[in-house]
Amino acid sequence: MQFQFFNTVIACILASLQLSHNQQSRCTTYTMHKKFIGSLHDDRAKPLWEIEKESVGLAMHVCFAYCERDQRCVGIEICTIRPDLARCRGCCEWYVVDKDGGLPRTAIGGCKYFELSKNSVESRGTRLSTNSNLSAVASSTYIEHGILEVEYPASNVLDGIYGNDCKRVNVYSSVIEKNPWLEVAWSGTITIWRIIIYNRYECCGSRLVNLNVTYKNNGVTGICGFYPGLLSRDGDILLFYCPPEAHATSVKLQIHSKPGQINELNLCEVEIYKKS
Ligand SMILES: *[C@@H]1O[C@H](CO)[C@@H](O)[C@H](O)[C@H]1NC(C)=O
Ligand SMILES: *[C@@H]1O[C@H](CO)[C@@H](O)[C@H](O)[C@H]1NC(C)=O
Repeated sequence: MQFQFFNTVIACILASLQLSHNQQSRCTTYTMHKKFIGSLHDDRAKPLWEIEKESVGLAMHVCFAYCERDQRCVGIEICTIRPDLARCRGCCEWYVVDKDGGLPRTAIGGCKYFELSKNSVESRGTRLSTNSNLSAVASSTYIEHGILEVEYPASNVLDGIYGNDCKRVNVYSSVIEKNPWLEVAWSGTITIWRIIIYNRYECCGSRLVNLNVTYKNNGVTGICGFYPGLLSRDGDILLFYCPPEAHATSVKLQIHSKPGQINELNLCEVEIYKKS
């Protein structure tokens, strides 16, 4: 009896996975597509939550419902731990997309990653445009004294230039110091949905470590996420999904230097999205 019930749950979920997002699913309003076989890597993704159940079908069923209720959830990783134990994790507090567009993964055969369709994710928010009076300030600005003097100002993170187009002159750079930071502000209070950070492209991607992403509203600080960055690479795109209570007037990105160490904060671009 119990066995039959689980079979139905699996069949029902699998049936809904086959449907395109335009079609109505019979079992859930939520449709996910298999993206890859493998696991979210600890240093490239921070899951939102984790649930263990006695079968894959049950884990999927519970996680789908969780994901549907969580504005930050963009996908689900499902793993078979043992024949009688399955785990699912919601993605993500933050995750990193490689410059080739790939999601973080490692080849662990017992796991599969399902993602929500792009349209249903994108409909959750909109990017703040330049007429929101976006501005950026930083703890310091690196100035290169060569034949020409070249400055790498904070405003470079709002110039719309990122990816392959982001040359050395388009980068923001702090001096080498303890706990360098950059803050982006705008006019009015918004509910932040997500923050996208474009790492430097032509060099030095590994400098992006121990990054604390926080927001501020009337002097009160909240946390969107902390990125350790042990595998940071040139051209990485970091997506931070903020908690629902993230009402804010500014966002701060700060490297927390290890005791006795100093760091250089380098960024191509920062995009702020508000909830729709
Ligand atoms: C941006 O700043 C200008 C000048 O201070 C102001 O008139 C305008 O209302 C601001 N825009 C928004 C969206 O608040
Ligand atoms: C991030 O910043 C917040 C606010 O300043 C602080 O409470 C938190 O401990 C920081 N996180 C880390 C990992 O340093």
